[in-house]
Amino acid sequence: MSSTVLTDLGLGTLPVFIDENGRIQLIDQRKLPETVEYFDATLFDDMLVAIETMVVRGAPSIGVAAGFSLAWEAARLAQVETDKNAFLKQLIAQGDKLKATRPTAVNLAWAVDLIIDRAKMAMGNNPDITTTQIADYLKIEAQQVMNHHISVNRSLSDIGAQFFKKNARALTHCNAGSLATCGWGTALGVIRSAHAFGLEPEVYVDETRPRHQGARLTMWELKEDGIPSTLVCESMAGHLMADGKVDLVITGADRIAMNGDTANKIGTYNLAVLAKYHKIPFYIAAPLSTVDAALKNGKGIPIEHRHESEVLMMSDRTITVDGARAYNPAFDVTPAKLITAIITEAGALRPDYKKSIAEAMKTALK
Ligand code: MRU
Repeated sequence: MSSTVLTDLGLGTLPVFIDENGRIQLIDQRKLPETVEYFDATLFDDMLVAIETMVVRGAPSIGVAAGFSLAWEAARLAQVETDKNAFLKQLIAQGDKLKATRPTAVNLAWAVDLIIDRAKMAMGNNPDITTTQIADYLKIEAQQVMNHHISVNRSLSDIGAQFFKKNARALTHCNAGSLATCGWGTALGVIRSAHAFGLEPEVYVDETRPRHQGARLTMWELKEDGIPSTLVCESMAGHLMADGKVDLVITGADRIAMNGDTANKIGTYNLAVLAKYHKIPFYIAAPLSTVDAALKNGKGIPIEHRHESEVLMMSDRTITVDGARAYNPAFDVTPAKLITAIITEAGALRPDYKKSIAEAMKTALK
């Protein structure tokens, strides 16, 4: 597919979509903001590479991409496998490969499990169903996963806007916008809603070393929307807060434990500690699909470690001495006690998170 100009995109850009030929397309987020290019991830193995190398990234978006990929893989399997139990076994094995691509973002496992559950449900409800009919049904369910995200993004964002006073100055980290979520965004969605409600927010955007999602993606989305934004290096956060320039911090999440401990992009924990010290509210915005119902607390959250070249190099050039080693955990965990509220589609959850999250989860899509 040919590239297009940035202004053709704008608010609500979908990072994952099915084109007119029924192929799975991704906006190649590695190339933004210089160019808007598309990556064809119709083949299952190409999707594995796309998620691993962050062509598509952001917890909800990789969940949506994985949902489509598994449904399309079901269609391929159905052409060669008519035995339903064998078909399901192979589908589960492929789902496990998807889950392994990025271990921290639970939305990925959530979407894979949902598609597998729907396949089991279809087989249970109709003993005569064929593998082709199951695959057709799974394509509809994958689209529902995306529709669900688009809808809950907007609900939680409108709920979160209550935390913005007129002209509030928000600090955000990484990218939790349309590109990361398929829709309005989560943390960036809340900022968008505040803007749409006429509250005129201003945003400080952490550049987000080492992959620069803030500098490349959040700055791009905010520019498209005409929301005033200023790029800062992570190391400037303390100075900004001490100077009284930050009214609130808001970020997305990759996995939330049942006690509220939250994994998000590396550097989020630093911001939460600084915000506590400066008595600035610290908010997490995320759909309930980011809550891991199986995890009591953040200790069990698997932290993805990525290749050291991401730290050693910038724009394909080394930034350090020959032979240097680097440490590259992609996420950290912010303890619940540093979080002022967790903004979800079921409302803004407050401490005691054990209670408020358990209550909200009763309404979550399963
Ligand atoms: O490594 P990434 O770019 O996939 O990390 C993304 C983040 O940490 C986001 O803040 C998180 O997924 C929330 S997106 C709504």
